[in-house]
Amino acid sequence: SPNLQKMEESSLLRRENCRAKGGAPGFKVAILGAAGGIGQPLAMLVKMNPLVSVLHLYDVVNSPGVAADVSHMDTGAVVRGFLGQPQLESALTGMDLVIIPAGVPRKPGMTRDDLFKINAGIVRTLCEGIAKCCPHAIVNLISNPVNSTVPIAAEVFKKAGTYDPKRLLGVTNLDVLRANTFVAEVLGIDPRDVDVPVVGGHSGVTILPLLSQVKPACTFTADEINYLTDRIQNGGTEVVEAKAGAGSATLSMAYGAAKFADACLRGLRGDAGIVECSFVASQVTELPFFASKVRLGRGGAEEVFPLGPLSEYESLMDLINSCNKLFC
Ligand code: NAD
Ligand code: LMR
Repeated sequence: SPNLQKMEESSLLRRENCRAKGGAPGFKVAILGAAGGIGQPLAMLVKMNPLVSVLHLYDVVNSPGVAADVSHMDTGAVVRGFLGQPQLESALTGMDLVIIPAGVPRKPGMTRDDLFKINAGIVRTLCEGIAKCCPHAIVNLISNPVNSTVPIAAEVFKKAGTYDPKRLLGVTNLDVLRANTFVAEVLGIDPRDVDVPVVGGHSGVTILPLLSQVKPACTFTADEINYLTDRIQNGGTEVVEAKAGAGSATLSMAYGAAKFADACLRGLRGDAGIVECSFVASQVTELPFFASKVRLGRGGAEEVFPLGPLSEYESLMDLINSCNKLFC
């Protein structure tokens, strides 16, 4: 009933005001594509983040249901659902961070580039909305092919006159999670104690794990390097094949995206020493966009770190050639 709706709305506003008065750090986060395989568990994980005071869930289908569900979790963030293009602007207005997992996923036999046509259009529309309604927000772009959707988003923002390369971040940390997990398995240690930088892009051979820079320091045999590199580069395909037509990685990606969003928010809050791998505008190689370690701060990716010393196996020339072939 209209009365009930009014009461709900004023109770949400009361909670928002109460948090603001308490001086609690409260960032406003929107998830675009929130009803999808990644979007739903990501909405749940972001709702659990104490740095988030407002969570907007936007999709072209089912977002009211996801919002109603997640809103019953007794954590601080106020949740609102937004459905369809006419509500995109309301979903985006005032946001500090926008996470985009909207778009179609792969089926077995497809490459990420096969998603380009449809996902490029979706990302373009969503980024036009961001440029208009929250031009200073940090953007975490998940939709594939990341190697191409990030440059497209950059072009949309340039056209709108709002482009800040530091605030546009392609989410590639799933490659790092996989690398940490598989390396830990080989070393027989806990994955939480492992840190593997993964650089380049987010597709096949453009994904380059720097196994020569693994922490804790260790050495691998040639067979282990071949096995690990191949498994990390094809981790996405491993999941696509195991799901046998029901989509690609969703739960591990939601976990990765929630971790990455938290790092971005801690950076926005001004925490020091926040470093993650991300696909960003870069001068580290001759390529315009490249994934490497970045330092996250109040302005987004404030520093893009150089790659450091590489082994013979981690040939930069080979990587640049593959990236050049695969970037659209
Ligand atoms: P999914 O089909 O389960 O969900 C996608 C959601 O996007 C759906 O709810 C759909 O309604 C929504 N959507 C479609 N068009 C939209 C629009 N115009 N505006 C808003 N929402 C829209 O797919 P998924 O498994 O969640 O994957 C989403 C994307 O993430 C895919 O492109 C996939 O390839 C990519 N992905 C990237 C990584 C990475 O490492 N960066 C990892 C996994 C998946
Ligand atoms: C992944 O790496 O899991 C994602 O990019 C999804 C895919 O299509 O592999």
